[in-house]
Amino acid sequence: MIEILVGSQMGAAEYTAEQVADTLVQAGYEVRLHLTPDLEQLARNSTWLVITSTYGAGDLPDNIQPFADQVAQDRTDLTTVSFAVITLGDSSYDTFCLAGRKIETLLLAKHAKTMEIKLDIDVLTEDLPEDQAIAWLPIFLSHLNEKSVNL
Ligand SMILES: Cc1cc2nc3c(=O)[nH]c(=O)nc-3n(C[C@H](O)[C@H](O)[C@H](O)COP(=O)(O)O)c2cc1C
Repeated sequence: MIEILVGSQMGAAEYTAEQVADTLVQAGYEVRLHLTPDLEQLARNSTWLVITSTYGAGDLPDNIQPFADQVAQDRTDLTTVSFAVITLGDSSYDTFCLAGRKIETLLLAKHAKTMEIKLDIDVLTEDLPEDQAIAWLPIFLSHLNEKSVNL
């Protein structure tokens, strides 16, 4: 099971996540897309793929901030979760893709296992975010097969 957690203010990360989810489903993976991620609804024996944009001054989008607060306050251990993060950002900000770093730090603090891969998408580049994400999926899938718990 791959849980896709979306953080999106204006829709670009959400659209990227939908395209990634479709691609993974077509490849035969079981996927759930969470547009308003809620810690209580996420399978813990699974892989979490966070796809989030960055707002404010390196902040998380509004829809995923409550999830970040839940994780920060939650006492339980996320040892059985493995995760990777795709972050959308704009390299003209000195807080480029900081939202992704914040999520990584939070999950690591709860002992979730990083898959040791990440993708930072610079929206100033010509390639569409969804195309960059889909092009990266083979790397994600190769690490999924190596590192994930309970596929
Ligand atoms: C008001 C505003 C603030 C932003 N702040 C940042 C930022 O601090 N760091 C960054 O890397 N990108 C920043 N961005 C760029 C967005 O992450 C980027 O436009 C992204 O594609 C938005 O995705 P979304 O439509 O899913 O929200 C900002 C964009 C806006 C409009």
